[in-house]
Amino acid sequence: MKTYNLALIPGDGIGVDVTDAAMKVLGAVAKGRFAFETTSFPWSCEYYLKHGRMMPEDGIETLRGFDAIYLGAVGWPATVPDSVSLHGLLLPIRKAFNQYANIRPHRLLAGVEGPLKAEGFDILCIRENTEGEYSGAGGRVHEGKDNEVAVETSVFTRAGVERILRFGFEQARSRRGHLTSVTKSNAQKYSMVFWDEVTRELAAEYTDVTVSHMHIDAMVAKMVMAPQDLDVVVASNLFGDILTDLGAAIQGGLGFAASANINPDRSAPSMFEPVHGSAPDIAGKNIANPVAAIWSVAQMLDHLGEAEASAAVLSAIEAATANGIGIRPGLNTTDEITAAVIAALEA
Ligand code: IPM
Ligand code: MN
Repeated sequence: MKTYNLALIPGDGIGVDVTDAAMKVLGAVAKGRFAFETTSFPWSCEYYLKHGRMMPEDGIETLRGFDAIYLGAVGWPATVPDSVSLHGLLLPIRKAFNQYANIRPHRLLAGVEGPLKAEGFDILCIRENTEGEYSGAGGRVHEGKDNEVAVETSVFTRAGVERILRFGFEQARSRRGHLTSVTKSNAQKYSMVFWDEVTRELAAEYTDVTVSHMHIDAMVAKMVMAPQDLDVVVASNLFGDILTDLGAAIQGGLGFAASANINPDRSAPSMFEPVHGSAPDIAGKNIANPVAAIWSVAQMLDHLGEAEASAAVLSAIEAATANGIGIRPGLNTTDEITAAVIAALEA
């Protein structure tokens, strides 16, 4: 039997609640299939208050040896500004390990009613995860003065744009054969025009994939009006971030939105985390929806090569939601939803 070594970073707020739920489900699905060992790291805003940093100096090197990283959520803005906590933990991991493909599926699980009339949508959002608007290139001068200036430059490299688009084309090929590339090239005449050009270059290679070019503004309307027309969606870091909160909303809420930060070359571990944040207002109350976190476990298993276990987790989630468990906020506790998924797994 294979043994996987997993690094856990529950993080802050409901990150702790849902990581706990996710690991219970992992324990249940592992039975008879594979073994795993977890090492939990207390890196969080609480850790920051004690140590003055979100993770130790050698945190990245510590994580490098694991087969995968599972992360709950990061952020406790009451004590540590988000710009500090995220740039001290989540974002450096994505970049350092070249987790350039952030995969976020958006569809309605059985029994879940979204806010839209459309029901039959199945979108796979592929968000560029290491550069673009999140490059961190910029600075401020004359702070606090009338002549203050702040610049933050998006950085798009040929290598970075090509690899994410190629990843998107491959995903489209393995699904319904349609790719929508999202830019704003009518207004951003360097980076986004460049992105469109690379998309066209690759389209010539992937002749079995049909390609649509959409601007981000038209895209948000499309995701509400006709999400069923979309298959794979590829977008830059910031556009992908925004689109996937919308994706979460149309699939019934952030509690259903899973996410995988993938290093496709496997030269470093990938990281799995729900799209939602730490939700301080409901932390520790046993009411957070663990479905997104559990779905992220399914993504992790798929990445580790445990396709059958991954599919088992997904069908267990849907068996629970089809029974009405966890389909609306306030309906069930975190524990109840987790127990229902485990019961379905073991049935
Ligand atoms: C996400 C989150 C993060 C992001 C934040 C917390 C920095 O919103 O994973 O979608 O913008 O990437
Ligand atoms: Mn986000």
